[in-house]
Amino acid sequence: MDDSTVFTEKTTDSVSKIFNVDEVRADFPILSRMVKEKPLVYLDNAATTQKPQAVIDSIVHYYTYENANIHRGLHFLSELATESYENARLKVKEFINAMSASEIVFVRGATEAINLVASSLCRANYFGDGDEIILTEMEHHANIVPWQLLCERKNLKIRVIPIDDNGDLDMDTFKSMVNEKTKLVSVVHISNSLGTINPVKEIINYSHEHDIPVLLDGSQSTPHIKVDVQELDCDYFVFSGHKVFAPTGIGVLYGKTFRLDDLPPYQGGGDMIRKVTFEETTFNDLPHKFEAGTPNIEGGIALGTAIDYLSQFDREVLSNYEDKLLKYATAKLSEIDGLKIIGTAKEKASVVSFIIEGIHPYDIGTLLDTYGIAIRTGHHCTQPIMQRYKLPATARASFTFYNTLEEVDRLVEGLLRVKKMFS
Ligand SMILES: Cc1ncc(COP(=O)(O)O)c(C=O)c1O
Repeated sequence: MDDSTVFTEKTTDSVSKIFNVDEVRADFPILSRMVKEKPLVYLDNAATTQKPQAVIDSIVHYYTYENANIHRGLHFLSELATESYENARLKVKEFINAMSASEIVFVRGATEAINLVASSLCRANYFGDGDEIILTEMEHHANIVPWQLLCERKNLKIRVIPIDDNGDLDMDTFKSMVNEKTKLVSVVHISNSLGTINPVKEIINYSHEHDIPVLLDGSQSTPHIKVDVQELDCDYFVFSGHKVFAPTGIGVLYGKTFRLDDLPPYQGGGDMIRKVTFEETTFNDLPHKFEAGTPNIEGGIALGTAIDYLSQFDREVLSNYEDKLLKYATAKLSEIDGLKIIGTAKEKASVVSFIIEGIHPYDIGTLLDTYGIAIRTGHHCTQPIMQRYKLPATARASFTFYNTLEEVDRLVEGLLRVKKMFS
């Protein structure tokens, strides 16, 4: 047994499955495929994660044995599908430790969740003339553009917490920005392009001292760390299923009950109503008020399966292993002449953005692909970050618990070959 890949850990109330990276890799069929006649090295996990067989099987199982529309039918299959879907909601509740399953709204992904909050706050006339929304300089476009669209409808101002060269938030400036016009703080928990783990607890506490609600974009935190929304005390929390080993097209908006109660519906249609006449409609209870139309039933169920899969392990053990990958990759990449890591915050998740002097990131990505190594290049939907560092793009390797130290070595080897070709 290689001690870099095997951990045994006991949680307080249960014994978690032993984490063995070789066994874990065998759970993800795609990881054993060849790409360009080389074994695949998949290092684009911040964009989307691969799916364990259990998740793939749960979709097949659903369509083979359970497929029916939910909530409306009295027949056997409809009841079965409804039960599976609502069970998945309960699993999500446990996954982020929400107070109640009715605080879990299924949406298409983090992007839709933020658009839902922005649109419903607007319809609720929550914002007044000249009110301010605070974001950070490292937001994904999904947490910028919905608020800009809102600014077009209301006379609002977006204020931006700057970062330092390492990619740490300037918390003093944040505190000086908060004033009586501030109506919402909406920040990314972990940055997808820099890997920074933001001091969200401090942001939430400070905002709450000033009666300001906080939305957390948990797209990159849910795959890497155990999230507890009650402990964080955030008002809204969003994430996407496909980044936590579930399919695309399913995601979650969490909101404290009183926050969701205060929001009007986002879309109208079936399932979200209690009574409809041509004169008037009354709306369903939470969370169904926000779930108009037939949802992504198999996606919800498969998200539940992905959560079951993750829950076999002690999340801290997985996080520690990813940290080991991050530290190893950071050390190895730093040895490459002319390579600069973008994002060196004190607290980081396993995301490494970098540039190499004289080589465009697109060339790095394209050449690595010929060696079977998948990384991401571009602005990572965080163009303001690129402007901050005066870069057109970066190359980004993002790791998860099924990656290995050997894969880091293959990345380094690949980069040295790329450098040689350009020298
Ligand atoms: C930090 C962050 N926020 C939001 C999103 C948007 O997620 P989705 O496209 O799944 O809605 C992403 C996706 O890359 C992300 O990394």
